[in-house]
Amino acid sequence: MERPTEPIVRLLGFLLQLTFLLYINQSWVSVGATSQELLKGFIATPYPSVSSFQPLLDNPNGTFSLGFLRNGSSQLALAIVHVPSGEPVWIANPTLWSLWSNPTELFFNGSLALSDRHSGVLWSTRTDGDSVILLNNGNLQIQKLDGSSRSVLWQSFAFPSDTLLENQNFTVNMSLVSSNSLYSLRMGDNFMGLNAEVETGLDQIYWKHRALEARANIVDGKGPIYARVSPNGFLGMYQTEAAPVDIQVFDTFQSSISSIRRLKLESDGNLRDYYWFDSKWVSDFQAIGDKCELPNACGSYGLCIPGGGCSCLDNQTEYSSDGCFSPESGDFCGGIEEEKAKEYWVLNRTGVELPYKDLMGFEKMGSVEVCQSSCENNCSCWGAVFNNASGYCYTLDYPIKTLVSVEDVSKIGYFKVRRIEYRKGEVGFAVWIALLVGAIVIFVGVASYGTYMIWRRKKEEHDMFMVESTASYKDLLRSCSLESVELPKR
Ligand SMILES: *[C@@H]1O[C@H](CO)[C@@H](O)[C@H](O)[C@H]1NC(C)=O
Ligand SMILES: *[C@@H]1O[C@H](CO)[C@@H](O)[C@H](O)[C@H]1NC(C)=O
Ligand SMILES: *[C@@H]1O[C@H](CO)[C@@H](O)[C@H](O)[C@H]1NC(C)=O
Ligand SMILES: *[C@@H]1O[C@H](CO)[C@@H](O)[C@H](O)[C@H]1NC(C)=O
Ligand SMILES: *[C@@H]1O[C@H](CO)[C@@H](O)[C@H](O)[C@H]1NC(C)=O
Repeated sequence: MERPTEPIVRLLGFLLQLTFLLYINQSWVSVGATSQELLKGFIATPYPSVSSFQPLLDNPNGTFSLGFLRNGSSQLALAIVHVPSGEPVWIANPTLWSLWSNPTELFFNGSLALSDRHSGVLWSTRTDGDSVILLNNGNLQIQKLDGSSRSVLWQSFAFPSDTLLENQNFTVNMSLVSSNSLYSLRMGDNFMGLNAEVETGLDQIYWKHRALEARANIVDGKGPIYARVSPNGFLGMYQTEAAPVDIQVFDTFQSSISSIRRLKLESDGNLRDYYWFDSKWVSDFQAIGDKCELPNACGSYGLCIPGGGCSCLDNQTEYSSDGCFSPESGDFCGGIEEEKAKEYWVLNRTGVELPYKDLMGFEKMGSVEVCQSSCENNCSCWGAVFNNASGYCYTLDYPIKTLVSVEDVSKIGYFKVRRIEYRKGEVGFAVWIALLVGAIVIFVGVASYGTYMIWRRKKEEHDMFMVESTASYKDLLRSCSLESVELPKR
């Protein structure tokens, strides 16, 4: 007689076996696939089972790792991450994510390259090197072996994404770009500046730090200045190594912090330094201290109240985290096909100021009427802020972002709001496309099932002895094309 516990024991045995198999699979993914040097002939593809990061190359002390970084369910980037926190510090292809699927592969043939079978090479170092290594400071290098010496052909430190690591030189040829592509940090002749892309191809500087030249002067002809995060807790600007021409000190300035630092241009447009302490990142510097001085703290047509959160420029509109009106683009000049894009209504609001007006151009005008009509009569103008005390008229030739609320009612804002919200039209279009794709999928499914039924009936008529088997069940699955049914989820 069978004991009643037997099925449970069998189930436990099966689960144990399954766990063991999963464990083997997992350790193979994380340990077996990494090394400390990649040589010619290396090739790797993403594993479907990896949920966040698949390491491929480690640095000697294990703090950084190069590998496939997953974004959402299907996107992939080649990235260097800080291993204990999983924080990406460098991304090879920030604007062009690849697919987390088998056709995507990373190979090294002298060039380190990311490719997929459909688009070909998506990203490449375009070098002819012998070895790829990741240094302890997080710098990925392609090296050429020449006898016993090695030379550096390419390094990730020369192509930062949104982060600078300790001792990484930031030069005039580089830019740090936030992951949402809206903000960038760049070096000027004697300053560093943060820029917002207010319109495609149009930048507005919103933060500028000029070198104070306290310890050394900038000398013409000695080359451009560059910046670097020091392990001693400051962001220095240099023209030569002899002495910095400027330092911006962090809260941990000259305190004996031996851990890793990173300076990141964040998605809100702020530049922050962090150090790794007690298993977490602690911030010890931010370029912009007051939230309202960020370029777009409360979104389109938002109003930032110093020390008091966000509201809307328009009293009738309730503030939501997406802003007050949907973000706009273009101007009111309109193309032939965009007659409606010229229509707008005017939103007036007093007691408002531009967050970075000190870095904006202005024109002195006699009255608020003159200032506002200059904007009204110019189809590329989106708004104007007039200071009735100084007579300064600031005109905005790009869609309205966040303004700052001030007590002073002599600061008078005039803003155009487009009547037709094009964004919504675009969303509608996307929904139609999704519906269309869905309809096609259902149609194909139904059609295949119908075809299958006809085929089966014919087969049954033809072969009366045929019994339904697992094989025909598989055919059913195949003809229903489960893959195409799953497609719209992606
Ligand atoms: C490496 O492969 C890429 C893409 O297939 C190719 O364009 C390139 O010439 C190769 N480089 C070398 C050094 O063989
Ligand atoms: C940064 O630049 C200085 C001066 O050119 C150089 O000595 C130093 O090695 C550079 N650091 C890195 C990590 O490339
Ligand atoms: C909106 O509210 C502000 C402050 O309460 C007030 O000064 C302004 O006149 C109001 N504007 C409108 C259009 O109601
Ligand atoms: C309209 O505004 C743009 C941008 O501010 C400016 O370049 C242009 O000269 C202005 N046009 C007129 C006619 O004032
Ligand atoms: C602007 O200033 C002028 C003169 O100082 C004053 O007469 C006028 O009332 C002010 N206008 C507004 C809207 O505050």
